[in-house]
Amino acid sequence: MTVLDRLLRARRLRAQQREPDLPQAARAVAIIMDGNGRWARRRGLPVAAGHRAGTAALRRTVEAAPDLGIRSLCVYAFSTENWTRPDDEVSDLMDLFAETIRGQFEDLHRQGVRIRFFGRRDRASDSLRAQMAGIEERTAANERLDLWVAFDYGGRAEIVEACREIVRSGVTAEGVDAALIRQSLAAPDLPDPDLVIRTSGEQRLSNFLLWQSAYAEYVFTTTLWPDFGADALRDALAEYARRRRRFGGR
Ligand code: IPE
Ligand code: IPE
Ligand code: MG
Repeated sequence: MTVLDRLLRARRLRAQQREPDLPQAARAVAIIMDGNGRWARRRGLPVAAGHRAGTAALRRTVEAAPDLGIRSLCVYAFSTENWTRPDDEVSDLMDLFAETIRGQFEDLHRQGVRIRFFGRRDRASDSLRAQMAGIEERTAANERLDLWVAFDYGGRAEIVEACREIVRSGVTAEGVDAALIRQSLAAPDLPDPDLVIRTSGEQRLSNFLLWQSAYAEYVFTTTLWPDFGADALRDALAEYARRRRRFGGR
């Protein structure tokens, strides 16, 4: 073997050793749960039936997540723009959130899931606000999985609110950095997602986690949210595992 061969071989070996760089599992996953309306329409059902089926999909997904290596799951439940939907749909959604907290979330609590909401709360009813605070408090010591629910959330509103808080604090211009902005976001403890999944075939962010997703991987699936569950989650994670994240480096 010539010196050149040896050098090339050594380089090849080093490259192979670098392969384990490939991400094994996404520990922080975020989901834009979309397609409830189309799911219902295709079955000739009212849109509320689609949202209800969506809550069953959420439960399946949350229950499957810990065994797939996920530690933090963040879901987009209601956006700041969703208030523009017809009044009866918004009202059905609010009723469904209350029912979900009372039923499913209590079950998830017994399975060790910690639940936190982020986004605006002042536009929710007093009773829904109290329910959110109650389940957050009851699940605070749970450690099996962190479930973050984005409710009345919008990425732009979140950044605007962070700017206001920073200005109010009186910090100098030079004192503003990425870490301070991060701390001023709606949920400073929410980890940046490794993977963002959007169901229903739409390929856009719709104002979700604008700051936090700067280097997330995206998986778009045509599965409608009410049809999502353990298998679809596993498929998305398998696609993530084939990606190579660079973070701007080589
Ligand atoms: C997502 O499903 C649920 C919410 C936005 C609350 P959609 O209701 O947006 O479903 P499509 O997009 O109309 O199918
Ligand atoms: C994004 O879905 C919001 C949630 C999933 C809660 P939308 O259905 O509201 O988004 P657009 O209108 O298709 O962008
Ligand atoms: Mg939609």
